[in-house]
Amino acid sequence: MNHFMCYLKLFGVLLLRIPEIRDYVVNKLNYILNPRSIAVVGASRSPSKIGHQVVRNLLDSGYKGKIFPVNPKADEILGLKCYPTVSAIPDDVDLVIIAVPAPLVKNAVIDCANKKVNGMAIITAGFSEVGNKEEEDEIVKIAREHEIPIIGPNIVGLLNSTYRMNASFAQDLPYSGKIALISQSGALIIGLIGWTWLYKVGLSKVISIGNKADVDFSELIVYLTEHDPETNTIAIYMEGTDAGPELVEACKRAAGKKPIIILKSGFSKRGELATMSHTGSLAGSARIYKAAFMQSYVIQAEDLFDLYDKALALSLQPPAMSDNILVITNGGGAGVLATDAAEKYGIPLSDTPPDLAEKMKNYMPPFGSTKNPIDLTGQANEEWYYGSIVEAVKHSEVSGVIVIYCHTAITDPAKIATKIAEASKIAREYKKPIVACFIGGKEVEDAADWLKEQGVPTYPVPSRTVRAMAALREYGKIIERANLRKKKP
Ligand code: ACO
Repeated sequence: MNHFMCYLKLFGVLLLRIPEIRDYVVNKLNYILNPRSIAVVGASRSPSKIGHQVVRNLLDSGYKGKIFPVNPKADEILGLKCYPTVSAIPDDVDLVIIAVPAPLVKNAVIDCANKKVNGMAIITAGFSEVGNKEEEDEIVKIAREHEIPIIGPNIVGLLNSTYRMNASFAQDLPYSGKIALISQSGALIIGLIGWTWLYKVGLSKVISIGNKADVDFSELIVYLTEHDPETNTIAIYMEGTDAGPELVEACKRAAGKKPIIILKSGFSKRGELATMSHTGSLAGSARIYKAAFMQSYVIQAEDLFDLYDKALALSLQPPAMSDNILVITNGGGAGVLATDAAEKYGIPLSDTPPDLAEKMKNYMPPFGSTKNPIDLTGQANEEWYYGSIVEAVKHSEVSGVIVIYCHTAITDPAKIATKIAEASKIAREYKKPIVACFIGGKEVEDAADWLKEQGVPTYPVPSRTVRAMAALREYGKIIERANLRKKKP
């Protein structure tokens, strides 16, 4: 498909298509993502089957709502009474997870429509991603006629760490936090949940969206930004969309309220083909997506690390409201690497304001450097870190601080982390972001993990640290642009 056709299909701008974000979907997402009761259609008696695992995960995750297994061949699953159909359940049902083979899904959807459930999430594969668009369309038609949103098909399920709900066949709930993760790839979701524990990246909700035959990114974005207090940042893995105008509209609605970071894949020739057979989506041209993201206040991620690094920073720290970022380090080399990265990622360092440079001399030996990056030298102790960070954040011309620590034999990383965490509380009072880079072995990694738990995004290399700060600056600019837009008559 040439670029012009791709533009038309994805973003429909020249056709002047009015974006349609359905209110009933946004309203019902509250029941789907925070359900009071869940039915599992295809709750198998066999522990190796997906439907069985979903019921087990609901129980193991500590879900407090009602669980109704549905299987016409069973009386009981994992100690829970089993129902032959959804309509046989005597209670109201908010969410139905469907995990029966594709040929059985349509009847299950009709049953859910008769029961007037609030929403469905279809795990089953075998629809548009393998060319079976007709059946997918029929299912969606039924659901839309009854105003019951469908998430999927071809998904892992839904997870909510606040309500301790693992309605999926992912192995575990994620490490808890304020980032909502939406992903078109289910397998990536499962892997990325593992990363949340490894890298202390806290998620509020995990939404596997798969073929997105009905509910699309736009409706989820509107729900998460306008109705979900548990979420302050939205991270998205996207393969493609044919609802470009809706996506742009939703992102514009979110601008300045909650940051949205998108990792878009499928830009290579073969990647485009892989996208089509994975989730049946149109991958589209990189240039068109990038332009649309820029126009709609989206922060773009380059890879999975970048997606999580930026989301972590944005979920834990305030935005940087000017370009004046100060780097404080105990290692000259790490400082140089940070300086190079700052230029690369669009936040080039400028000189330390002279009055601040003078104050910084109190926190370094005579051979330290007060230039930006500020080099406290290898002798730096935790008090110097604390003092220099606090002086920096109090200064009106500094809008954010990157703190770098390289392990030395004369410092205890845990003590350094403690003082950085204390200084970050002062930074918060001044609404200035702090990100940290901890370089070293296991002891340093433990201190870095602790620091993240205290709300300071911490990374193992200067480039990733600086890129995270650049995202905080980018979000600062987005807020300014969004405010300007609001002021325009
Ligand atoms: N209502 C409810 N349950 C029913 C019905 C019905 N009408 N009819 C049959 N069942 C029961 C079955 O009897 C069975 O229970 P049992 O084992 O106790 O007899 C249970 O439902 C499951 O049915 P099966 O035919 O055994 O189906 P199976 O579990 O093998 O497969 C599944 C179903 C998992 C949905 C499969 O079709 C599928 O789509 N798998 C792929 C899922 C996937 O990969 N999704 C994308 C994730 S993203 C990623 O890449 C990780």
